[in-house]
Amino acid sequence: MTMRGRFITLEGGEGAGKSTNLAFVAAWLRQRGITLITTREPGGTPLAEQIRTLLLEVREEPVAAVAELLLMFSARAQHLARVIEPALARGDWVLCDRFTDATYAYQGGGRGVNPMLIRTLEELVQADLQPDLTLYLDIDPALAEARLEGRERDRFEREQAAFFARVRAVYLERAAQFERFRVIDAGAPLAQVQSSIAVVLSAFITP
Ligand code: TMP
Repeated sequence: MTMRGRFITLEGGEGAGKSTNLAFVAAWLRQRGITLITTREPGGTPLAEQIRTLLLEVREEPVAAVAELLLMFSARAQHLARVIEPALARGDWVLCDRFTDATYAYQGGGRGVNPMLIRTLEELVQADLQPDLTLYLDIDPALAEARLEGRERDRFEREQAAFFARVRAVYLERAAQFERFRVIDAGAPLAQVQSSIAVVLSAFITP
Protein backbone atom coordinates (compact mmCIF):
# COMPACT_ATOMS: atom_id res chain seq x y z
CA MET A 1 0.00 0.00 0.00
CA THR A 2 1.31 3.48 -0.86
CA MET A 3 1.77 5.84 2.03
CA ARG A 4 -0.38 8.94 1.74
CA GLY A 5 1.57 12.11 0.95
CA ARG A 6 1.75 15.09 3.25
CA PHE A 7 -0.02 18.36 2.71
CA ILE A 8 1.86 21.61 3.37
CA THR A 9 0.37 25.07 2.93
CA LEU A 10 2.06 28.44 2.76
CA GLU A 11 0.17 31.53 3.90
CA GLY A 12 1.06 35.17 4.21
CA GLY A 13 -0.03 38.69 3.56
CA GLU A 14 0.54 40.49 0.29
CA GLY A 15 4.22 41.36 -0.08
CA ALA A 16 5.36 38.73 2.45
CA GLY A 17 7.58 37.01 -0.12
CA LYS A 18 5.34 33.98 -0.59
CA SER A 19 6.46 33.11 -4.15
CA THR A 20 10.19 33.25 -3.37
CA ASN A 21 9.73 31.16 -0.26
CA LEU A 22 7.42 28.67 -1.94
CA ALA A 23 10.21 27.96 -4.44
CA PHE A 24 12.65 27.64 -1.53
CA VAL A 25 10.44 25.13 0.32
CA ALA A 26 9.88 23.07 -2.85
CA ALA A 27 13.62 22.93 -3.65
CA TRP A 28 14.51 22.09 -0.04
CA LEU A 29 12.10 19.14 0.07
CA ARG A 30 13.02 17.86 -3.41
CA GLN A 31 16.72 17.89 -2.48
CA ARG A 32 15.79 15.44 0.25
CA GLY A 33 14.18 13.03 -2.20
CA ILE A 34 10.56 13.98 -1.60
CA THR A 35 8.23 13.83 -4.61
CA LEU A 36 6.24 17.00 -4.46
CA ILE A 37 3.77 19.00 -6.49
CA THR A 38 3.36 22.74 -6.04
CA THR A 39 0.04 24.41 -6.63
CA ARG A 40 -1.96 27.42 -5.55
CA GLU A 41 -5.36 28.72 -4.45
CA PRO A 42 -7.57 30.04 -5.76
CA GLY A 43 -6.52 28.04 -8.82
CA GLY A 44 -4.55 24.88 -9.56
CA THR A 45 -6.78 23.46 -12.34
CA PRO A 46 -7.95 25.11 -15.58
CA LEU A 47 -11.46 25.69 -14.17
CA ALA A 48 -10.19 26.89 -10.80
CA GLU A 49 -7.73 29.23 -12.54
CA GLN A 50 -10.67 30.75 -14.43
CA ILE A 51 -12.45 31.27 -11.13
CA ARG A 52 -9.25 32.89 -9.83
CA THR A 53 -9.31 35.35 -12.72
CA LEU A 54 -12.94 36.21 -11.90
CA LEU A 55 -12.01 36.75 -8.25
CA LEU A 56 -8.90 38.87 -8.75
CA GLU A 57 -10.03 41.05 -11.65
CA VAL A 58 -10.68 44.64 -10.73
CA ARG A 59 -14.35 45.24 -11.61
CA GLU A 60 -16.89 48.01 -11.24
CA GLU A 61 -19.61 45.77 -9.86
CA PRO A 62 -19.23 45.41 -6.08
CA VAL A 63 -18.75 41.74 -5.18
CA ALA A 64 -20.98 40.41 -2.38
CA ALA A 65 -18.88 38.83 0.36
CA VAL A 66 -20.82 35.56 0.24
CA ALA A 67 -20.49 35.38 -3.57
CA GLU A 68 -16.73 35.78 -3.15
CA LEU A 69 -16.71 33.11 -0.44
CA LEU A 70 -18.63 30.60 -2.58
CA LEU A 71 -16.33 31.17 -5.56
CA MET A 72 -13.31 30.48 -3.31
CA PHE A 73 -14.83 27.19 -2.16
CA SER A 74 -15.98 26.32 -5.66
CA ALA A 75 -12.41 26.65 -6.93
CA ARG A 76 -11.21 24.67 -3.88
CA ALA A 77 -13.65 21.79 -4.46
CA GLN A 78 -12.39 21.42 -8.03
CA HIS A 79 -8.74 21.72 -6.97
CA LEU A 80 -9.16 19.10 -4.23
CA ALA A 81 -10.96 16.65 -6.51
CA ARG A 82 -8.66 17.00 -9.51
CA VAL A 83 -5.24 17.75 -8.03
CA ILE A 84 -4.74 17.64 -4.26
CA GLU A 85 -6.57 14.43 -3.32
CA PRO A 86 -5.17 12.36 -6.22
CA ALA A 87 -1.61 13.54 -5.45
CA LEU A 88 -1.86 12.72 -1.74
CA ALA A 89 -3.44 9.35 -2.55
CA ARG A 90 -0.56 8.35 -4.85
CA GLY A 91 1.93 9.29 -2.13
CA ASP A 92 3.11 12.64 -3.49
CA TRP A 93 3.47 15.58 -1.18
CA VAL A 94 1.50 18.72 -1.96
CA LEU A 95 2.81 22.24 -1.35
CA CYS A 96 -0.02 24.72 -1.80
CA ASP A 97 0.26 28.51 -1.98
CA ARG A 98 -2.71 29.41 0.29
CA PHE A 99 -5.64 27.26 1.39
CA THR A 100 -8.65 27.56 3.70
CA ASP A 101 -6.81 29.58 6.36
CA ALA A 102 -6.80 32.35 3.72
CA THR A 103 -10.59 32.13 3.55
CA TYR A 104 -10.91 32.61 7.31
CA ALA A 105 -8.42 35.51 7.12
CA TYR A 106 -9.67 37.33 4.00
CA GLN A 107 -13.38 36.53 3.77
CA GLY A 108 -13.81 36.09 7.55
CA GLY A 109 -11.45 38.75 8.91
CA GLY A 110 -11.21 41.06 5.92
CA ARG A 111 -14.80 40.98 4.65
CA GLY A 112 -16.52 40.15 7.94
CA VAL A 113 -18.20 36.89 6.87
CA ASN A 114 -19.35 34.81 9.85
CA PRO A 115 -16.68 32.13 10.51
CA MET A 116 -19.44 29.59 11.25
CA LEU A 117 -20.49 29.86 7.63
CA ILE A 118 -16.89 29.31 6.50
CA ARG A 119 -16.70 26.29 8.81
CA THR A 120 -19.85 24.81 7.25
CA LEU A 121 -18.41 25.15 3.73
CA GLU A 122 -15.06 23.81 4.90
CA GLU A 123 -16.76 20.64 6.16
CA LEU A 124 -18.79 20.30 2.99
CA VAL A 125 -15.82 20.70 0.64
CA GLN A 126 -12.96 19.15 2.62
CA ALA A 127 -14.61 16.70 5.03
CA ASP A 128 -11.77 16.13 7.50
CA LEU A 129 -8.87 17.06 5.21
CA GLN A 130 -6.55 19.61 6.83
CA PRO A 131 -2.96 20.59 6.06
CA ASP A 132 -0.29 18.69 7.99
CA LEU A 133 1.87 21.80 8.22
CA THR A 134 1.11 25.48 7.60
CA LEU A 135 3.88 28.04 7.28
CA TYR A 136 2.57 31.51 7.91
CA LEU A 137 4.83 34.31 6.66
CA ASP A 138 3.95 37.11 9.01
CA ILE A 139 4.64 40.70 8.05
CA ASP A 140 3.60 44.12 9.29
CA PRO A 141 1.11 45.35 6.65
CA ALA A 142 2.92 48.72 6.51
CA LEU A 143 6.18 47.02 5.50
CA ALA A 144 4.31 44.85 2.99
CA GLU A 145 2.66 47.95 1.55
CA ALA A 146 6.11 49.44 0.91
CA ARG A 147 7.16 46.25 -0.91
CA LEU A 148 4.06 46.39 -3.13
CA GLU A 149 4.56 49.99 -4.13
CA GLY A 150 4.58 50.53 -7.87
CA ARG A 151 3.16 47.06 -8.65
CA GLU A 152 -0.13 46.69 -10.48
CA ARG A 153 -2.71 45.63 -7.88
CA ASP A 154 -5.49 43.05 -8.06
CA ARG A 155 -8.92 43.38 -6.41
CA PHE A 156 -7.57 42.27 -3.00
CA GLU A 157 -4.34 44.23 -3.13
CA ARG A 158 -6.40 47.40 -3.55
CA GLU A 159 -7.90 47.02 -0.06
CA GLN A 160 -7.10 49.49 2.72
CA ALA A 161 -4.66 49.01 5.59
CA ALA A 162 -7.49 48.19 8.06
CA PHE A 163 -8.52 45.23 5.88
CA PHE A 164 -4.98 43.80 5.99
CA ALA A 165 -4.75 44.38 9.73
CA ARG A 166 -7.91 42.23 10.16
CA VAL A 167 -6.51 39.57 7.81
CA ARG A 168 -3.30 39.39 9.84
CA ALA A 169 -5.16 39.25 13.16
CA VAL A 170 -7.13 36.19 12.00
CA TYR A 171 -3.99 34.43 10.76
CA LEU A 172 -2.28 35.01 14.11
CA GLU A 173 -5.36 33.81 16.00
CA ARG A 174 -5.43 30.64 13.95
CA ALA A 175 -1.68 30.16 14.37
CA ALA A 176 -2.19 30.21 18.14
CA GLN A 177 -5.16 27.83 17.86
CA PHE A 178 -3.82 25.07 15.58
CA GLU A 179 -0.72 23.01 16.26
CA ARG A 180 0.04 22.61 12.52
CA PHE A 181 0.95 26.34 12.20
CA ARG A 182 4.47 27.76 12.26
CA VAL A 183 4.80 31.55 12.20
CA ILE A 184 7.81 32.88 10.29
CA ASP A 185 8.88 36.51 10.67
CA ALA A 186 8.79 37.60 7.02
CA GLY A 187 9.99 41.11 7.87
CA ALA A 188 13.48 39.69 8.52
CA PRO A 189 16.15 39.55 5.78
CA LEU A 190 15.51 36.75 3.26
CA ALA A 191 18.45 34.60 4.42
CA GLN A 192 17.07 34.63 7.96
CA VAL A 193 13.52 33.87 6.78
CA GLN A 194 14.82 30.88 4.84
CA SER A 195 16.93 29.55 7.66
CA SER A 196 13.85 29.70 9.93
CA ILE A 197 11.87 27.82 7.29
CA ALA A 198 14.63 25.19 7.01
CA VAL A 199 14.53 24.62 10.79
CA VAL A 200 10.77 24.04 10.62
CA LEU A 201 11.07 21.70 7.63
CA SER A 202 13.86 19.67 9.24
CA ALA A 203 11.72 19.07 12.30
CA PHE A 204 8.74 18.24 10.11
CA ILE A 205 10.49 15.57 8.03
CA THR A 206 12.26 13.98 11.01
CA PRO A 207 10.29 10.86 11.91
P1 TMP B 1 -2.10 35.42 -4.04
O1 TMP B 1 -1.95 36.88 -4.33
O2 TMP B 1 -1.38 34.98 -2.81
O3 TMP B 1 -1.87 34.53 -5.20
O4 TMP B 1 -3.65 35.17 -3.64
C1 TMP B 1 -4.66 35.71 -4.36
C2 TMP B 1 -5.58 36.52 -3.50
O5 TMP B 1 -6.69 35.74 -3.12
C3 TMP B 1 -4.96 37.05 -2.23
O6 TMP B 1 -5.19 38.43 -2.19
C4 TMP B 1 -5.74 36.40 -1.13
C5 TMP B 1 -7.02 35.98 -1.78
N1 TMP B 1 -7.64 34.79 -1.22
C6 TMP B 1 -8.80 34.93 -0.48
O7 TMP B 1 -9.29 36.03 -0.30
N2 TMP B 1 -9.39 33.80 0.04
C7 TMP B 1 -8.89 32.54 -0.16
O8 TMP B 1 -9.46 31.56 0.32
C8 TMP B 1 -7.68 32.42 -0.93
C9 TMP B 1 -7.11 31.06 -1.19
C10 TMP B 1 -7.09 33.56 -1.44
